Amino acid sequence: MLSIFKSSTKQALEEVAEEMRVRKTKHLILLFSMGSQFDHLIVQQISKLGVYCLVADPATVTAEDVKKLQPAGIIVSGGPASVQDEPPPFDNRIFDLGIPTLGVCLGFQMWAKHVGAKVLPQDKREFGVHTFNIIIDDPLFEGIARKTHVLESHGDAILPDSTIQVLGATENAPVAAGRYKHLVGVQFHPEVTETTAGARMYENFCFKICKIADRFPAHNVGAAKIDQLRKQIGDRKVLIALSGGSDSSVVAYLLKEALAGKKNVLLGVYIKGIDRPDDEAYVQKYFGSEDWIKLEIVDATAQFLKALAGKTDMRDKRVAMRDVYKEVLNEKIKSFGADFIAQGTLYTDLRESGFGHATGARIAEIKVHHNTGLDFSVPKIEPLSDQVKDSGRSIGRDIGVPEDLIWRHPFPGPGLVVRIEGEVTKESLRIARAVDGIYIEELRAADLYETVWQAGATVTHSMHTFTKGDDAGTGRVVALWAVTSVNGFTARFAQLPYDFLDKVSRRITNEIREVGAVVYRISDKPPSTIEWG
Ligand code: XMP
Repeated sequence: MLSIFKSSTKQALEEVAEEMRVRKTKHLILLFSMGSQFDHLIVQQISKLGVYCLVADPATVTAEDVKKLQPAGIIVSGGPASVQDEPPPFDNRIFDLGIPTLGVCLGFQMWAKHVGAKVLPQDKREFGVHTFNIIIDDPLFEGIARKTHVLESHGDAILPDSTIQVLGATENAPVAAGRYKHLVGVQFHPEVTETTAGARMYENFCFKICKIADRFPAHNVGAAKIDQLRKQIGDRKVLIALSGGSDSSVVAYLLKEALAGKKNVLLGVYIKGIDRPDDEAYVQKYFGSEDWIKLEIVDATAQFLKALAGKTDMRDKRVAMRDVYKEVLNEKIKSFGADFIAQGTLYTDLRESGFGHATGARIAEIKVHHNTGLDFSVPKIEPLSDQVKDSGRSIGRDIGVPEDLIWRHPFPGPGLVVRIEGEVTKESLRIARAVDGIYIEELRAADLYETVWQAGATVTHSMHTFTKGDDAGTGRVVALWAVTSVNGFTARFAQLPYDFLDKVSRRITNEIREVGAVVYRISDKPPSTIEWG
């Protein structure tokens, strides 16, 4: 994944030329990331088509740089900034170069404003899935039904006037797609799976609009990563933070291949204390008695509880959890004499924490992930940091990671901390663990576990009056949730059967004395995130 982070110095241009030579391609799409949560999904959509996508920093890459690069097309992504109040840094002369350009959400608003259209905050904001109606045929929509579902997430809207040709509309966005000469734009996000024809739109943009004629051959991402790791690590030692979930397991298996034939060079560390009831068993089962990895289980319950005592704000709790995570791993790095620390960090984790592709535009910090922005005492190895959940899982499948590990529901590094509202105590951890145990057990028993992408339960702060037998009192409200998703950037709530929810609710209220009521969450992402906190 090559990005031009600095103004295209001679060196950056030479690197791009070399990359294109290696990929045997003459055409490139230049993506300006305006801080979108989904920018990397655009890279993946374009790459899947066999087209070389280069990410450029809008704060530093100028119209002159773009002229030198001669991209076949330009994409300007969305982002959290408003074109009115905080226009992101971008050389608007790029819009005048005559190169086919696709503006996505904020990117569309930016070129619309540049050509003289009005962009204003909307009364009826659009977050989530809407119906898009194509009004005028455009090569962007070739082969697409006239009514299709799209995911929108924007507060500003482009007003209809004579400047822009309106190509399509949704209920609250009269200019949901538009064109002005070589500039085309959409208010929705074609890169997410909820936009059902989105992949076709990127295909049309590359091949019908930008007239790209060559595609570079697919290569085996897993094999390339193993090769890279082998060169990077050499004869040195690696500590990997294992969670029992798919991302860190995939990284462990990549390291297994990269370090094949070497003894005592890979240590897996599993930190216990804020985990699910079955995580440790998974780690033991798959890593506990292997000859290519040594496993150490560290019970950090007391450290976590101490660091979390008195903290009720979710961000504070996330930060406190990270400190313990870092401290425990740094100690193990020292005792094992590791030269690197490996983690299963995904691009999703980076972007949601405010990192990711360089951009002078504002990036929203959605939540501080446990594994981002941490400085360990040794360099990090994060081979999945350019992947999202589904592509990480594909790599795992290619290199033989057991399906059981690959298909485990994602679980956040901060574990049950983000599934407990208010203070995390021994008691609230016990309730969260018991609820998770029942919910997941019942999902498996009903053959529903694999039909949802992720399911979890949150012990909320709300209290509910109960009457159990002759006794009465108040107990915590537990919120169950389950989503369908592809990569975690977007998600829809899963329509679990009522009789299933009924059974789980009965079990939870009967078996866990402290629970007063059970509710089910029915919000999508966006606008809600998947985890409660
Ligand atoms: P949200 O809740 O932001 O989460 O919609 C998207 C996906 O990421 C997981 N998640 C995390 N994973 N460290 C992680 O490794 C974290 O700090 C973290 N926070 C959320 C979440 O479970 C979901 O799958």
